[in-house]
Amino acid sequence: MNDIKANGSEYESDRVSTYYDFDVLVIGSGAAGLSLALRLADHAKVAVISKNKLNSGATSWAQGGIAAVLSSKDTIASHVADTMAAGGGLCHEDTVQHVVEKSAACIDWLIEKGVAFTPFEPSIARPKDTYVENHYHLTREGGHSHRRVIHAADATGKVLHNTLEDQVCDHDNVFLFEHHMAVDLISNGAGSLDGRQCLGAYVLDTKNDEVQVFRAKKTVLATGGASRVYLYSSNPDGSTGDGIAMAWRMGCSVVNMEFNQFHPTCLYNPEARTFLLTEALRGEGAKLRLPNGEAFMHKFDEREELAPRDVVARAIDHEMKRLGADCVYLDISHKDADFIREHFPTIYKRCMKLGYDLTQEPIPVVPAAHYTSGGVRTNLAGQTEVDGLYAIGEVAHTGLHGANRMASNSLLECLVYSYAAANDILEKLPQAGQHRSIDPWDATRVTDSDEEVIVSHNWSELRHFMWDYVGIVRTTRRLERAARRIEMLAGEIREYYGSFRITPDLLELRNLVTVAELIVRSALLRTESRGLHYTLDYPDTDPEQARDTVLRPPRRPR
Ligand code: FAD
Ligand code: SIN
Repeated sequence: MNDIKANGSEYESDRVSTYYDFDVLVIGSGAAGLSLALRLADHAKVAVISKNKLNSGATSWAQGGIAAVLSSKDTIASHVADTMAAGGGLCHEDTVQHVVEKSAACIDWLIEKGVAFTPFEPSIARPKDTYVENHYHLTREGGHSHRRVIHAADATGKVLHNTLEDQVCDHDNVFLFEHHMAVDLISNGAGSLDGRQCLGAYVLDTKNDEVQVFRAKKTVLATGGASRVYLYSSNPDGSTGDGIAMAWRMGCSVVNMEFNQFHPTCLYNPEARTFLLTEALRGEGAKLRLPNGEAFMHKFDEREELAPRDVVARAIDHEMKRLGADCVYLDISHKDADFIREHFPTIYKRCMKLGYDLTQEPIPVVPAAHYTSGGVRTNLAGQTEVDGLYAIGEVAHTGLHGANRMASNSLLECLVYSYAAANDILEKLPQAGQHRSIDPWDATRVTDSDEEVIVSHNWSELRHFMWDYVGIVRTTRRLERAARRIEMLAGEIREYYGSFRITPDLLELRNLVTVAELIVRSALLRTESRGLHYTLDYPDTDPEQARDTVLRPPRRPR
């Protein structure tokens, strides 16, 4: 990474805040944020902020790959139909069509930028139906009726992120701010949504402990998902739903927050951090087995291991509860060992370090929270309901995923919406006018907390009860119990937030509690089971409820 570049528009106001002025402020440096910055950079002055290092989001952890229609044996209609089927009747067909149609062009763009996808390599034994067109190996994952997932071995996200990061670092028009955490978006104060505008964001420089003002003609949330609201998650620590909470406070609607995706196969090892075992393993033939070695997915779905994730995660949960087992097992040991090592080098090495040999034995796995299918309501250009504010990537609800996201459609969504938002922003920037005057952050009323232990206890409590009461299988009573606990926590955090100097932990906790509240409220509103939302009180799907759950915010920004 290059050094953060000093910005010509930085100045000190008569109160303490430092001000920065940009055409576009991008909050988040994952696939969505960095590809947007690159698309804009030749025409606009762009700031990209990240609350940690640039590569600390979920993007760098992505394994399986990116779904796209790249083979002549595949069709746009088939990718659209698979996405809609996985989405349990709630995908927006116009969105799905929009995304899938642009999939091949977005992959071309990445290849042009230098992303080194895994090519077909004739010296390695391949399954018979491996496609070799375009010179790239395409793998398969749950819900896909074709091989259509382009990948860089099992480290697609890392390769993608490194390439995009190199490119933004080299661009003079992109200003990178690591360890800068958005606290809240800044509104023009309009009471009604019609006149409400986003003017930028208050941002905590976490190294220097200073809240700065970033003024921007357009602001883009690219802050990723909220899966760390759960105790066990495949996600990095920073997936705390900050963008969803900030947008909600700003006045944006959020949609379908009840649909939290649990990835079926995360490594089970009480000594190690949760680690994903990519669905591509099942795409290449891995079987799920009970502790006694029996395969079981055929009892739940005719697509067996390649059923969509909601089905597979629920099946595992069911079998673990039935047997009182701590985990089930993922077994690819029947495949050629060279093939396994070549295709899954990261997973192979990580498992070996923990004493498991993927080529020789089944690996213990459990489901863990993985993806936030709902989010901030946006249109086909990534615009939210607030003027000047966009949301792209996992933070957004575009209508692509419906009640259950299909594997590898997420990175694709990041790429298509960064392209769409860039076009829209560039069209609108010339009419955006001058930066408006904004008050500096008022830190005069707060003191340092001497009770930070409360923040960490509340974090832990929230994640435990979200896992226990709002997980893969829900009931109304459990959801109501969670709602009561959330209300109590929200009250405590409001008090704490109003009294003490802000810290990254406090900001994340505040956002997580908001997200938890949105999840539970949405789940209580859906009195049926559909896709990722399964409740024992309403186990069937109700055709009358084939609609999005839309939560509308209070009339005034909070
Ligand atoms: P992220 O990559 O999560 O980036 C979020 C950014 O926002 C980070 O830079 C973070 O620092 C920043 N941020 C957050 N809050 C703030 C704040 N308050 N202030 C400033 N900055 C902030 N999807 C696929 O399609 N294919 C896959 O193979 C795949 N594999 C996956 C494997 C794993 C282990 C995980 C966890 C996810 C996987 N996914 C996959 C999902 C996919 O990786 C994510 O949905 C996607 O990367 C999200 O990208 P993003 O740009 O929206 O957010
Ligand atoms: C995986 O590789 O299994 C994750 C893919 C995804 O989340 O889309």
